[in-house]
Amino acid sequence: MRCANRAGCLPYGFDAGAGPDIVAGRGCYLFDRDGERYIDLCNAFGSVMLGHADPDVSAAAAHAITVGVPAGASRRTASRIADRMAIDVGSEVSTAFFKTGTMAVRAAVCAARRATGRPWIASAGFHGWDVMWTPARTPFTVSDTGVFDFFYCADALAAFLTEHAGKVAAVVISPDYLHIGPDQLRALSAIARAANVMTIFDEVKYGYRFGPGPSVHRHGITGEVYVFAKGLANGWSLACVTGAAAVMSEMTLFTSTLAYSQVELCAAEATLAKLVAMGVWESIGAEGGRFAAGVRERLVASRLPLDLVGTGHCFQLVAESPELEGALVAGARGRGLVLQAGDQQMPSWAFSGPAVDDALNILEGALTELAAQFSWLLGVPLSKRAHLDAAWSQMDGLPAVAPTGADRTAFLADKLAVRRW
Ligand SMILES: Cc1ncc(COP(=O)(O)O)c(C=O)c1O
Repeated sequence: MRCANRAGCLPYGFDAGAGPDIVAGRGCYLFDRDGERYIDLCNAFGSVMLGHADPDVSAAAAHAITVGVPAGASRRTASRIADRMAIDVGSEVSTAFFKTGTMAVRAAVCAARRATGRPWIASAGFHGWDVMWTPARTPFTVSDTGVFDFFYCADALAAFLTEHAGKVAAVVISPDYLHIGPDQLRALSAIARAANVMTIFDEVKYGYRFGPGPSVHRHGITGEVYVFAKGLANGWSLACVTGAAAVMSEMTLFTSTLAYSQVELCAAEATLAKLVAMGVWESIGAEGGRFAAGVRERLVASRLPLDLVGTGHCFQLVAESPELEGALVAGARGRGLVLQAGDQQMPSWAFSGPAVDDALNILEGALTELAAQFSWLLGVPLSKRAHLDAAWSQMDGLPAVAPTGADRTAFLADKLAVRRW
């Protein structure tokens, strides 16, 4: 295996020789070379809205491939999507297109720095791999690349902006609804606003997940700039930055050879149309919600220290130890249900009806085996530390209920010491 960065790109933890050899994906299912079928709740973190190989999206992409308009030669599809973004964001905004969430967030940050002439960024959450996000080794200090990570802590952001607002170009926040919620996001946004610093919401994960446009809008929270990706093109490589003219005018040169490739833009147009036409958001909420409720019941019945946080749109299994979580994920996979360890599950619209019932039955079987395997954990309550570790592993930040003072700093110092870059 000569793919040097492959280990960092294994959404399923599958790898040659160490997991099933997946040869096809359709709807909520994956199929391996031996003809085994798996229900997929991870969706490669890409085809998270409609499921794998959605026929309408595939047809739109195939048409674009066949017609052959080269990247950038026509702006029509991009313009239509940009118009749609303006409607969904609900103000006078323009949109710049990119291939990945990482590139889009980086461009938004660079544009904010140029627009304000200020060097520093305050940040919470994961924004992709880029040297810009190389963490400071000491918690709550400014990194070599000018980033202050406040790990979603309102007091840390407020203190930093009180002292340094004049040097801060933007506050960049990846919303989270599993371990923190709208109230905390609202508080962070209010702190930025009071300090007169723009907010960039990194909506790569949650934009278009619950409904059209930014997830924060559903809670009355607004920013100046939004970055979208996973909700846009159902697994095709497209991301965008949408925002007001003052920042977007700085985007002119931030582009790349294939940024305006027709295939991804057509896939996005088909995806966005289908999200509305098929009531996809409501359906994911209802069917995913049915699954999440069924899982919660079964976790309680198992008496193991396991929990599910989140809602039907997006949820995470929290386990007392990585071994317990690993055994649950392995047991489910062995029975035909793919769960993502250490991260959230993002069921698609295709996960519905009998697939939900099958998945619940599979999980029940896996839990029965787990209870026998980890019998010494029966009746042991799930610790706060398990929630803390789960939040860290999913969002690179601290949950709403987190240690304070020296305990908080010690926890962060430990985590930062083992960060891989
Ligand atoms: C909130 C957030 N921002 C940025 C990124 C990076 O996006 P990409 O992997 O498309 O570069 C991710 C990826 O999961 C993400 O969840």
